[in-house]
Amino acid sequence: MEAFLMSCTCSGAGLITVAEDPACTRPGDTELISIDTEPVVGETPRAALRSWLTPTPLFYVRNHYTVPTIDPQHWSLSIDGAVANPLEINYSELLRLPKRTLPSLLECAGNNRSDLGLGIPGNPFEDGALSNGIWAGAPLKPFLQQAGISPDAVEVLFEGADSGEPAPGRDVVPYQRSLPLQVALHPDTMLIYEMNGEILTPSHGFPVRLIVPRWYGMASVKWLTRIRVLEKPFVGFFQTERYVMEDQAGIDQQISRIEVKSFVNWPEHGTSLPAGNPIAISGMAWSGAGPVRRVDVSIDGGDTWQDAHLDESALGYSWQQWHLDWTPPSAGHYTILARAADDSGNIQPLVTRWNKLGYCVNGCKPVCITVT
Ligand code: MTE
Repeated sequence: MEAFLMSCTCSGAGLITVAEDPACTRPGDTELISIDTEPVVGETPRAALRSWLTPTPLFYVRNHYTVPTIDPQHWSLSIDGAVANPLEINYSELLRLPKRTLPSLLECAGNNRSDLGLGIPGNPFEDGALSNGIWAGAPLKPFLQQAGISPDAVEVLFEGADSGEPAPGRDVVPYQRSLPLQVALHPDTMLIYEMNGEILTPSHGFPVRLIVPRWYGMASVKWLTRIRVLEKPFVGFFQTERYVMEDQAGIDQQISRIEVKSFVNWPEHGTSLPAGNPIAISGMAWSGAGPVRRVDVSIDGGDTWQDAHLDESALGYSWQQWHLDWTPPSAGHYTILARAADDSGNIQPLVTRWNKLGYCVNGCKPVCITVT
């Protein structure tokens, strides 16, 4: 537990509720935090994570290559491979189908990579490679059924219109990711053309992207152009060399569903609050294995835990907001931790499983405050 009893350098005069916190209106909170410019990578500012819905301009962006420019009039999506009747879908056909709306968060597998410290390759994401959106489009399943899937099919491969060298000196390849057949056929695996009530923006996959709820973001292929049904598991850079859990013993699994996790989004790490008033500690929690069942909060670095209140149930696959009203017993330093558990019995670990590429970081993250 000692690892969590970190000493904090606290500064500034904080207030008691998140709505009155001056930290919420810093200029940087109204823009995406740039991590890279070519390809564009940016994370959601912390203040935006306090709302249930992430506005599109603040929704995190993770691109491996340059954003392709696609004319929707000339765009089509082919479904081929191990199917009886290969198909081609165009944009206007897709938009004419009944529209389904689906709230879902997206979390990049590299979110919170910087919490693992120096020496891990990859984008040094803090908390904001995570956002929640409302997506609209059509389920993929009827298209796959119409194409007539081979009885020997095992996976479905999704290809984006973007391509390049995935690493210096490697052959040029498109962004490609596969899903197990049953995940591709899940009724909530969708072909998406709208985000937060508007046509997708180029950065987020215009004209059409995939959304795979409960899976880390790498599965939600943007700028879709081709879907191929496979009779053998796919081998490719973004499937078997990246987005894998690798330690000193080698690669032991491909990354798939989001691990159970929670996040304290108020108060902020390093703030100072006046004594004698209740503080509404708040945050969110999520899991790819099912709804969040409980969130426990500790204010003493993990020695004791209290049950937080889960706010109204999370819609669709969005995050579960929670809060805990707490009155500091006296002035001093406090280390706040949150730990989530999901419906399938998974409990957030105190410490992330270390891995070479810094994926699936879900250890409890200490937030240190000073009460004066
Ligand atoms: N799809 C394509 N075609 N190219 C990409 O680089 N990045 C993936 C995924 N889909 C990517 C892609 C990754 S790693 C993530 S985390 C999500 O898109 C990010 O989606 P967003 O940029 O809309 O937030």
